[in-house]
Amino acid sequence: MSFPTTRLRRLRQNARLREMLRETALRVDDFIYPLFVVCGRDKKIPVPSMPGVFQFSVDTLKDEIRHVCELGIRAVLLFGIPEHKDAVGSASCDDNGIVQLAVQVIKSIAPELVVITDVCLCQYTDHGHCGVVTRQGKIDNDPTLELLAIQALSHARAGCDMVAPSDMMDGRVGAIRSAFDSAGFADLPIMSYAAKYCSGMYGPFRDAADSAPAFGDRRTYQMDFCNSREALREVELDIQEGADIIMVKPALAYLDIIKSVKDTFGCPTAAYSVSGEYAMVKAAGAQGWIKEEAVMMEILTAIKRAGADLIITYFAKDAAKLLHS
Ligand code: PBG
Ligand code: ZN
Repeated sequence: MSFPTTRLRRLRQNARLREMLRETALRVDDFIYPLFVVCGRDKKIPVPSMPGVFQFSVDTLKDEIRHVCELGIRAVLLFGIPEHKDAVGSASCDDNGIVQLAVQVIKSIAPELVVITDVCLCQYTDHGHCGVVTRQGKIDNDPTLELLAIQALSHARAGCDMVAPSDMMDGRVGAIRSAFDSAGFADLPIMSYAAKYCSGMYGPFRDAADSAPAFGDRRTYQMDFCNSREALREVELDIQEGADIIMVKPALAYLDIIKSVKDTFGCPTAAYSVSGEYAMVKAAGAQGWIKEEAVMMEILTAIKRAGADLIITYFAKDAAKLLHS
């Protein structure tokens, strides 16, 4: 079948028709807004490499939460920055820890807001790796699982609505699932960072979360960006272990992965548009080299078009404002 070339163009001439025929439309409901919580009081510390992003203490967090709710954002993803770090990330399992406290505070002022907690060790370990480390300096997968399960349970007791393990240890979804099931949290879902690549785009986040590895890198547990079939195997394993939502991370350079994961499994799929993606747009926008808002909407729409049902993005507030205007 051959189309006259004018036929597609014809539908683009009328602005109203163009809008009506859009295949993909962003909604505020698509967004999950990441938040960084620090110990102490009266803190709202800007993250230099992420303009518009702050580290909040639990008291200042309240105003931010009210603002997030006013914008119609439905869900937040919490990262905690503890006061004390050690080899095994003990502070992450403390029922009075920073994330646990933040969950309780948020739930007390905004019970409807979906509170998702990041489950990992890297912000809590003195070496900055996502798992415990052997004497030889290797990441020790299996002993880490138990710690992650304890941490996740502590978040559950604090009242979170979902946990999001980001560590990339093998078997952690299964470990958290069975811990939940046997402790009365059978209904608490898990969003797993299933296909998480070892990316150069996490730099600003590591400033924000104070979680840069003290030695080496994360190549032995995060995925090689040269691979796509491996992502399907990672996702399949996490689904088998009980993941309810699976995530691809980063988003922008991995749209092909988002699409093949969604097409292959059809599961609820989230994409994490990471700190570096945000920083690049903000920096080029501030220089006047690109139109920040237009590029932001284009990128977020592309992530949804690729198959993401949910988008974790530092642009959530900016995009919500735009969608409401
Ligand atoms: C690690 C973790 C990372 C991010 C969130 N949790 C990546 C990493 O440091 O390896 C990155 C998020 C971002 O860049 O926005 N558990
Ligand atoms: Zn980590």
